[in-house]
Amino acid sequence: MMRVLGIETSCDETGVAVYDSQAGLLVHRLYSQADLHMEYGGVVPELASRDHVRRLLPLVSGVLKESGSYESGSAAAAAIDGIAYTIGPGLVGALLVGATVGRTLAWAWGVPAVGVHHMEAHLLAVMLEKASPAFPFLALIVSGGHTLLVVVRELGQYEVLGETLDDAAGEAFDKTAKLLGLPYPGGPELANLAEQGDPERFYFPRPMVNRPGLDFSFSGLKTCVLNEVNRQSSDTQTRADIACAFQEAVVDTLVVKCKRALMQTGMNQLVLAGGVAANKLLRTRIKHVCERMDVKTFYPRPEFCTDNGAMVAYAGCQRLLKGEGDDLNINVRPRYSLEDL
Ligand code: KG4
Ligand code: ZN
Repeated sequence: MMRVLGIETSCDETGVAVYDSQAGLLVHRLYSQADLHMEYGGVVPELASRDHVRRLLPLVSGVLKESGSYESGSAAAAAIDGIAYTIGPGLVGALLVGATVGRTLAWAWGVPAVGVHHMEAHLLAVMLEKASPAFPFLALIVSGGHTLLVVVRELGQYEVLGETLDDAAGEAFDKTAKLLGLPYPGGPELANLAEQGDPERFYFPRPMVNRPGLDFSFSGLKTCVLNEVNRQSSDTQTRADIACAFQEAVVDTLVVKCKRALMQTGMNQLVLAGGVAANKLLRTRIKHVCERMDVKTFYPRPEFCTDNGAMVAYAGCQRLLKGEGDDLNINVRPRYSLEDL
C-alpha cells in the first residue's frame, strides 16, 4: 500500500492531491490563477511562480487534513508514504516552486520523492476513472502546450506517433479566442460561443489531413480565422459562426488523425487526455467514429483533463511502487520529451 501526495505547478494552476494505491483518490484541490492572468491575456510566468508560492503550502496542509494524513500542529505527516511533483515540461519558475516544496517535505518526512513528467500524468489521468483502459492503448493528448498521438504500451513505455509542428491544439483555441475578443483562458469560452454558431456559414481548412503521417499543424488555421475576422463585421452572431467553424476544423483534424492512427496501429482503445479533451464536440465526434470502428473510448472527467494534482499523485504513485525515486537534488526540466522517459 502506498499513499502519495501529488503536487502540480507547471503552469497557472496549483493542484494538490492525495492518492492511495488501495483506497484510490482521497482528496484533490485546485487553485486556478486564471483571474490573475486575465488582464494580460495570457500567463505571465513570474506572476505564476509567485502565486504558486502563496497558494501551495495552504493547499498542501488542507489536503493532508482532509485526507486524514496530518495531525494538526505536528510537523510529521505520518500517513504519507511518498511525494510526487511535476518536474516538466512547463514554466521553469513555476515548476521550481512545486519541486522545491515537494522535495523538501519528502526530506523532512523521510519519505521518497519522485519528479513526474507532466504529459505522462495527463496520459494516466484516465486511470482515476471507473472506466479505464488496460494497456496497451492509443492516446491523443491535446493540451495548451502539446498535441501528441502516443502508443502507450505500458507504464513508462510511450511511442510518439505524431505531434504538432507549430501551435498546440489548446494554444490554437486560446489564440483564436483572443482574436474573437474572448477573455483568457479562451478555449472553453470559444467552445461556449461556438454552440450558438452556424456550422454552415464559414469553412476553414483542415490542416495537413491530405498529407500522409500523423503530425499536426494549427498555426495556419489561426491566420485563416484572422483574415475572416478582418473581413466580417464583429456582431455576436458572426463571431459565434466563426468560432463554430474554427472548432469544427480543429475537431475534424484531430478525428481524422486519430482514425488514421487507429488503423495504422490496430489498437482497439483510444484515450483522450489534456485540457482540450474536455471539449464536448471533440468527445462526441471521437466517440461516434470509434463506435463505428469497434474501438472503445476513454476520457477523464473534465476537471482531470485540465491540469490537476490528482493525475500527478497517481502517476507518481505508480513510479514509486516500482521503486523509482529521485535523489536530494531539486531538478526541473522545462523542456522534456515523453520519449526521454
Ligand atoms: O492540460 P491543460 O490544462 O494545460 C496544459 O498542460 O497545457 O490544457 C489547457 C488548455 C488551454 O489551452 C485551454 O484553452 C484548453 O486546454 N481547454 C479547452 C477546453 N477546456 C480547456 N479547449 C477547448 N475546449 C474546452 N472545453
Ligand atoms: Zn497540462
